[in-house]
Amino acid sequence: MHILDAKIISNKNIAKDIYLLSCEAEEIASEARPGQFLMLKLNLPLPYILRRPFSICLTNIEKNELFILYKIRGKITGHMSRLKEGERISVMGPLGNGFDIPSNTSRIILLGGGIGVAPLISLLPIYNKGITFIAGYSSAKEYVDIKRIVKGDYTYIVCTEDGSIGHRGTCIDAFRDYMERPLSDNTVVLSCGPMPMLRKISEISKRLNIACYVSLETYMGCGMGLCQGCVIRTQHGYIRICKAGPVFKSEDICWNQA
Ligand SMILES: Cc1cc2nc3c(=O)[nH]c(=O)nc-3n(C[C@H](O)[C@H](O)[C@H](O)COP(=O)(O)OP(=O)(O)OC[C@H]3O[C@@H](n4cnc5c(N)ncnc54)[C@H](O)[C@@H]3O)c2cc1C
Ligand code: FES
Repeated sequence: MHILDAKIISNKNIAKDIYLLSCEAEEIASEARPGQFLMLKLNLPLPYILRRPFSICLTNIEKNELFILYKIRGKITGHMSRLKEGERISVMGPLGNGFDIPSNTSRIILLGGGIGVAPLISLLPIYNKGITFIAGYSSAKEYVDIKRIVKGDYTYIVCTEDGSIGHRGTCIDAFRDYMERPLSDNTVVLSCGPMPMLRKISEISKRLNIACYVSLETYMGCGMGLCQGCVIRTQHGYIRICKAGPVFKSEDICWNQA
C-alpha cells in the first residue's frame, strides 16, 4: 500500500455529473488488481479532511496512470469535478481484495447499476472477449459510453429506466432476460451498484445456481481496517468491508441485515 501525491493528467466530464479522472501514480498503478480501491484526499479544510473511497476503474502501467470514474454526490466529489490538469491529490492504495475469478470460468457477466460500473470496467482489458457487460442507468444523460473507455469485442448491453437509450428497464430486468438463454456451467456474475440491486442479483443467481460476486460500496472511515466504520454481517460473522472486501461471494452476505 502506498500514499502518493498524484498529479492529475485529465478530469473529463463524460455524462451528467459523471467524470473520468486520470492521475499519475506509478507504484499504485503497477500493483493494482481489478476490483481494488483507493482512498483519496483532496486539499480541503475541515470537516472534509477525511479520505474517501473510490474504485480503481482502469490502469495504464506504461504511462503510470490510474483512472477513477466518479459521480458528483456532495462536497468532495463536487470539488473533484473542478480539479484541473497539473493539480495534485493524495492517493492511498491499492486497497481491498479485488475480484478473484475462478480459473475455469468460461463466461463473465458484469452487472453495473449507475456509477457501480466503475470497478467492473477494470476487468475489461483482461477478459474482454468473454464478457457481457449489462449496465443500467436512470436515463441517457447518465449513460457512460464504456466502449469509448475500453475498446474491444465484449458485449455491452445498456438499459435505462426511462428507455431514453438502450432497453427500457433496470439492469435486473436485462439480467433476467439474458439468463433465459442457455449458459455454460462455468458462468460467473460480478456486480456493483446500490444494495437493493445487489440483493436482487444475488437472489436470481442463487436460484439459477450461478456463482455471483458483489462489490460493496458502503460508507467507509479509514479504509484500512482501523475504525470499524464499514462492518457488515456475513455468514462468517461481522467483517470489515475495507479489509475482507469490497468483493464478496454474494451467498456470504446476510442480505436481510445488510
Ligand atoms: C469501496 C468503494 C468504492 C467506491 N467507488 C466509487 C467510484 O468508483 N465512483 C464513485 O463515484 N463513488 C464511489 N464510491 C462512493 C464514494 O466514496 C462517495 O460517492 C463519495 O465519498 C461521496 O463524497 P461526497 O462528499 O461528494 O458526498 P457526501 O456529502 O459524502 O454524500 C452526498 C450524498 O451521497 C450519498 N452517498 C455518499 N457516499 C455514498 C455511498 N458510498 N453509497 C451511496 N450513497 C452515498 C450520501 O448519503 C449523501 O446523500 C465508492 C465507495 C466505496 C466504499
Ligand atoms: S473503513 Fe475503517 S475499518 Fe473499514
